[in-house]
Amino acid sequence: MKSLKVGLIGLGFIGVAHIDAIRRIGGVELSAVSDVNFDQAKQRAGQFGVEKCYEDFNDLINDPEIDAIHNCTPNHLHLEVNQKIIRAGKHVFSEKPLGLDADESAQMMATLSEYPEIVAGINFCYRMTPLVQDMKHRIKNGEIGDIYLVHGSYLQDWLLYDTDYNWRVVKEFAGPSRCVADIGSHWIDTAQTVLGSRICEVCADVVTVLPTRKKPVMEVETYAIVEDMEYEDVAVTTEDYAGVLVKFENGVTGLFHCSQVCAGRKCHLNLEVNGSKASYYWNQETSDRMWKGNRDINNELVIRNPHFMAQQVHDYTYMPAGHPEGWNDAMRNTVFAFYQFIKQGKKLHSHKPDFATFEEGHYIARVIEAILLSGKERRWVRLDEIK
Ligand SMILES: NC(=O)c1ccc[n+]([C@@H]2O[C@H](COP(=O)([O-])OP(=O)(O)OC[C@H]3O[C@@H](n4cnc5c(N)ncnc54)[C@H](O)[C@@H]3O)[C@@H](O)[C@H]2O)c1
Repeated sequence: MKSLKVGLIGLGFIGVAHIDAIRRIGGVELSAVSDVNFDQAKQRAGQFGVEKCYEDFNDLINDPEIDAIHNCTPNHLHLEVNQKIIRAGKHVFSEKPLGLDADESAQMMATLSEYPEIVAGINFCYRMTPLVQDMKHRIKNGEIGDIYLVHGSYLQDWLLYDTDYNWRVVKEFAGPSRCVADIGSHWIDTAQTVLGSRICEVCADVVTVLPTRKKPVMEVETYAIVEDMEYEDVAVTTEDYAGVLVKFENGVTGLFHCSQVCAGRKCHLNLEVNGSKASYYWNQETSDRMWKGNRDINNELVIRNPHFMAQQVHDYTYMPAGHPEGWNDAMRNTVFAFYQFIKQGKKLHSHKPDFATFEEGHYIARVIEAILLSGKERRWVRLDEIK
């Protein structure tokens, strides 16, 4: 079969991770890249042997050879770039959150409805970790019985100090929610995936721990640490922390919290599901292991092993047990599932893929909006209150 030609816009932290995933799956050729930082774009195009390099993303979108495009730009560009990709009739794989807010993601859904042939995916990659997929199938098969509770968190420390700064702190670039949209959204997607049900009601405490931050006078890359920097004080309105009670459509109740100011926590995404027969606990920082809690026999440590995993997971786990698979592999699995779907000629209106779709991205944007509203008005908010 002819190789699909792929373009990628935005060659920062996550753009490079997408390149790695694209190069690992085969049958897909990364033909063009674009970044407004053209020196960086040319350097990375050379490093990865990419044929074409554009300074203006419009030129990449309009390149007739390109079949599908990854949008790895900051959040404020997602709407414009995704809309242009869809209108150019190309498949789109966007970074999360889908837009700055639910209004922007609704606009993308409206445009997408005019192009039913287009496959539109969003990179909620943690759901594609082998043991998350395995947990999903075990729960579906009734292994832990009726589900009673789900809880967990996503905690980081990279915005702990008031001198920590990046475009994510600026509402105009990141959107009205920071911590929930940036990392809480991953917890929401992972929980909804394993439960096979959506959050329909929330009650949240949303807190900006550091309302003033020191903005470096020069630009700082994501996660970079720079010494001897000059700063100016800026007011920050987006949240550093949120604690959220959640109810799911299937009646399950739970809670999660997310924070970017927890010293020592890096990418501490964890999820526990408690059922009538047993519990599961998974933490992405030890993603090859899952704890199974039992009442009447000893607890168990499930170690990822393709021999003992649900058949449906076999496309998403390939190393023999003992060779760890982690976040990079979840990225590979997400991109693999996206292109398999396209190559098999499947359409989103007739097939449900394993990767997250724009529709799910839009739903999560509405959950985020409900969380902000709940925090502001200090009450439970139902999803049907959010358009
Ligand atoms: N799925 C995940 O696990 C995950 C992880 C990290 C980031 N992200 C998402 O990825 C997106 C990018 O985040 P990042 O951490 O890579 O940011 P980043 O700042 O490291 O990279 C963004 C890149 O976009 C480029 N860019 C900016 N304006 C542009 C334009 N007009 N045209 C072309 N390129 C442009 C920048 O020069 C930069 O290279 C965000 O939406 C973020 O939420 C997702």
